[in-house]
Order: sequence, then structure tokens, then C-alpha cells
Amino acid sequence: MRDYINLLKERGELRVVSRVVDPGSELAAVIWHSQQESDAPILFERVQGSSLSVISNVYGSHRRLCELVGTVPGDFCRRWQELVDHPVAEADIYRRAAAGDFPYERGKLRDLPQIQYCEKDAGPYLTAGVFLAREPDTGVPNLSFSRSMMVSDRELRIRLAPPHDLTKYQAKAESRNQALDVAILLGPPPAVFLAACASVPYEADEMAIAAAIRGAPMPMRPCEKIDLQVPAETEVVIEGRIIPNERRPEGPFGEFLGYYVKQGPNHVFEILNVTWRQDAVFHALVCGYPEDLRALEIAFASRVYRKLTGSLPGILDVSCNPSPMHTIVRIAQQFEGHAKQVLLAAFASHLQYNKICIVVDEDVNIHDFNDVWWAVITRCRVDRDVTIIPDVPGFHRDPGGMFKGRLGIDATRPFGENSEYERKRVQGADRINIRDWVPR
Ligand SMILES: Cc1cc2nc3c(=O)[nH]c(=O)nc-3n(C[C@H](O)[C@H](O)[C@H](O)COP(=O)(O)O)c2cc1C
Repeated sequence: MRDYINLLKERGELRVVSRVVDPGSELAAVIWHSQQESDAPILFERVQGSSLSVISNVYGSHRRLCELVGTVPGDFCRRWQELVDHPVAEADIYRRAAAGDFPYERGKLRDLPQIQYCEKDAGPYLTAGVFLAREPDTGVPNLSFSRSMMVSDRELRIRLAPPHDLTKYQAKAESRNQALDVAILLGPPPAVFLAACASVPYEADEMAIAAAIRGAPMPMRPCEKIDLQVPAETEVVIEGRIIPNERRPEGPFGEFLGYYVKQGPNHVFEILNVTWRQDAVFHALVCGYPEDLRALEIAFASRVYRKLTGSLPGILDVSCNPSPMHTIVRIAQQFEGHAKQVLLAAFASHLQYNKICIVVDEDVNIHDFNDVWWAVITRCRVDRDVTIIPDVPGFHRDPGGMFKGRLGIDATRPFGENSEYERKRVQGADRINIRDWVPR
């Protein structure tokens, strides 16, 4: 990740904060304000109580995610599917890091930045930790995220939601009364962070997907206290194990839907070792804001894209903008009623998350919600092109019933009437580079 941060710095795309920041009361707020006005990543050089600097919003931009997977905006889903479908062969995933290549030192959890994200959070949390674990029987590696409440130098409390592979690994180990070894990676290589977002079958090797995204083998080093290899370039590694048959209070925590999840009995992670690279950068991510939402979008949009392209023609791209509950599909219309079929298939592609689905034409930017809403305003007849399906259950955590029902909006122009609906273009807009005229 530090190579990518250095590249962004060289290009003048990194915001750098040199003054001392308090991680308990200021740091998350500065990230939040910065994200309100810019999609730039932000580096805090001096963090009170820690020798580590903090980086945030590295992945909070569709343009940067496209760059990291080797494509251009508008083509993310197609490229992602290509990478996921061509994982690297087992023999080529890893290479052994030479001793001394990535020197690291040992410390305690208390030495890491203690970031309080939201007012009512139970305490400091790790939000950007990638959990690396192996399936207890087959040894296949999995990468995923779980919010982690920082309790003491020996303990984290973590949230494992039912559908995820790590939750299944832990349940299997627990049924044998065994702890599950896990390495939490903070600031792994970007390819590993992105592969952790992938929604792939249980048997799939997510390190092979990371190697495919990277386009080269991953230098690895062994952990010191558990039997796992980790990417040697990772900034901070927390080694530990999830204790079987033990649940302790975790939360409240302000998470991706913009509310607090209440305190609940969640899993206990015993910390066995904490290491970080020289001059380590700690990755912090504010849940529910661009860096979190773009990461979630990778999983959900690519899943809808895969289902749609498997059954319908003319599917160009999918976004989940601004939230994973909301799906937008960009199509090249092929026949009368095409968009309505896309709506049906999109709803079926993810039964928990597609609360609202909008279909637009190829000339709409689905990563700009204002542009999508322009299409709704000018191309959707609300008495004919809006579909409400009542009483369908959605997201599993829904005490108020707010995720019941579906809303589908066909915001495509009438089939065959392209010239009537040709978008105007501002004279010269394609040729002007705004940076040649005004500074950023
Ligand atoms: C930034 C971020 C934080 C997440 N936090 C949690 C969490 O606390 N608990 C959880 O169960 N899932 C969480 N998720 C969702 C899953 O971990 C994630 O979608 C992962 O891809 C699931 O992996 P799997 O498909 O291998 O099971 C989070 C996802 C992201 C992008």
C-alpha cells in the first residue's frame, strides 16, 4: 500500500496533515470533512499516542479502484469478473520474501492509533483490518473484513455476520472446540484489500484472486505465533485466534447504514502478537462513507453484473451508488421492454440488498447519482415505468420493516427514439483539461 500512497503523493493526489491529531476526538472528523469535499486520500503524519502515521480514503474513489484493477471508469465490473475468473495457479501465488526485505518490529495493541469513529461507539475500533484465515479442513485461504473493538492488549471483540466464509470456518473449528488462527492485516498490498471484498464461492482461494489482481506473485513471510503466512508488505499484522464457545459484549458501533448497531454478544479474538513495518502507516476507514461504500460496492455490483450478463444481452456496467441497498444498471437497449427484464433479473440477483434498482441508458454516468437522477427526471414516466413489489423481505437486520418491498425504476429512453433523446454536449468539453485552466 505504501508504494501506491507514494505514487498518489508524487501525482499531487494525496492530502497530507502535518499537525498533531487526536485519534480519540479529531481524526475521524477530519477524514469525514475531507471526504465531504474531495475524494483524495488523506495522510496524518503525527497521531497523538502512537508512532504510526494514519492513512484513510485510499480506496474511496471509483477512478482509483479502476486504476488498481487495470481498467478505466465504466468498465470495473467486466474487468473484475475477468480477474476473479482467472485466479493465479497455486504454484504462482506466493514467493518467499527474502530476510530483511521488509523489516518489522514488535509492539502492543495500545501502540496503534486508538481511533474513536462515532460519538456513541463503545471505544476505539479497527475498521480496515483484512482477516486472513484458512479453511479448517482444506486449508484454502480466505480474506474478509470484520469490525474489531479494541478491548486490551490481549483482546479484540469482533463481529462475524452469518453469511460470510470466515463465520463458517469459525463455526467448524468451534464444533471441534478448536480456536481458529487468524492474521489481521492492516494496510496489506492493495490487491489483497480488494480481494477481501470479493464475493466468491466458499471453495475459492482469495489469495489467488489477489495475485491475479496484482499480476505477480505475492512476497510472503511466516507469522511468529500462528501457523499462517502473511503478505510481507503489510504495514501492521495482528496475529491471534478466535476463541471457541465464547461471546462477550461488543458495540454499539456506527456502521455502514448510517445507524448504530446495538451492543450484542460477539466473538472474542485473543491477540498473540502485533508487528509493524518500519515507518508503518495504519489504515483507518470510516464506516458508511466513501471508502467503506466503494469497498462494499465491489462485492455487490460485481455479483449483480455476473448474474445479469449470464442471462441478458446489452449489460454494460453496474454500480451500487450511493449504498449497497441501491443498484444502478447501465444498458445498451436491445429490444422493447429490455430494461424491465433487467429490473426483474437484478432483483433476483441479490435478495438481501437490492431495495431500489434503476436502469439507465449507455449515455448516463452511473457513478454520479445526480446524472442517474437526471435520467429518472427526463426519461421515466412515473405512471408507467415505476414498479413497486410489496411485502418482499430484504436485509436480515430489519426490525422496523424498512427493507421490505422493492422499487424498480426504468429510466431508459423509449426504445428506438435515440435522436429525440440525444444528450446535448457543451462545445469543446471533450478537449479541455480543467487543470490547464484552474488549480485543483
Ligand atoms: C470495510 C468493510 C467492513 C466490513 N465489516 C464487516 C463486519 O464487521 N462483519 C461482517 O461480518 N462483515 C463485514 N463486512 C462484509 C464482509 O466481510 C465482506 O463483504 C467479505 O467480502 C465477506 O467475505 P466472504 O465472501 O469471503 O465471506 C465488511 C465489509 C467491508 C468492505
